Amino acid sequence: MTRILRRLNDLRAQTAQWRSDGQSVGVVPTMGALHEGHLSLVEAAKAQCDRIVVTIFVNPMQFNNPGDLTSYPRVEAEDAGKLSPLGVDLIYAPAPEEVYPSGFATTISVDGLTEMMEGPNRPGHFDGVATVVAKLFLKTQADRAYFGEKDYQQLLVVRRMADDLNIPIEVVGCDTVREASGLAMSSRNRRLSEAGMRQAAALHQVMREVAQALSEGAEFAPLQAEAVGRLEQAGFDPVEYLELRDVAALAPLEAASANARLFAAAFIEGVRLIDNIAVPAR
Ligand code: PAJ
Repeated sequence: MTRILRRLNDLRAQTAQWRSDGQSVGVVPTMGALHEGHLSLVEAAKAQCDRIVVTIFVNPMQFNNPGDLTSYPRVEAEDAGKLSPLGVDLIYAPAPEEVYPSGFATTISVDGLTEMMEGPNRPGHFDGVATVVAKLFLKTQADRAYFGEKDYQQLLVVRRMADDLNIPIEVVGCDTVREASGLAMSSRNRRLSEAGMRQAAALHQVMREVAQALSEGAEFAPLQAEAVGRLEQAGFDPVEYLELRDVAALAPLEAASANARLFAAAFIEGVRLIDNIAVPAR
């Protein structure tokens, strides 16, 4: 079985040892309830690093909705069972008091990239992500960290943070892993009924159709209005946003361009799902 550590100092001691032995370290930060999307990050890390640390921590600081925090699935033994056969060296799964001891008073806040989409819809979310990820980067002193494009805005925010704070780590982005239906895998999908899972596939289907029309030269505004209507008909309530943005600064776009991506967030059965896909240039 993969070893599970609870203390930051034990984690640091182990990764420091590896580094002094000349071994490279890869870290895969997660909140657990692992699925194939998470495991694909582990595989990407294995291909590039000598040692792999997976962190499992349901980070209270990034939840703007207390109900979401309580209902977030916590299945550590099941997660460990998925990681052991992959040859993960270490799981770091601290208690909240270990990460945020009493007196904790520092927040890392990234401007610009957090001002749209997930930012305003989840106040405080990216501060929580940037703060916990910075702590994990500093504690592991990993050479590389692996993040999914599923959370594309998060990937950009984390890269910006590491760059701005001169943390010497390479932030590697990995493709989104999907169900056969096209639905992006997510720990939150566990909260959907079977019917909800089927309906939820409409999110990706509609996004693909919009991306296709955009790459044939259509303007975004009318497509957006029609697509939101279709998502509502498919059972999404509400559709929080459907936006076309450039891949670097996340500036809004009116039509496809060389670096365009389509982003969406929508609720189904009370579960908030997000997705994003590349839009091929015309
Ligand atoms: P979590 O939602 O558990 O996701 C952990 C990592 O897995 C993130 O980098 C996420 O983008 C990636 N991931 C999730 N679903 C994926 C999929 N279908 N395909 C590919 N990658 C996928 O994101 C977080 O946790 C937290 O915000 C965290 C970064 C751990 C900070 O607390």
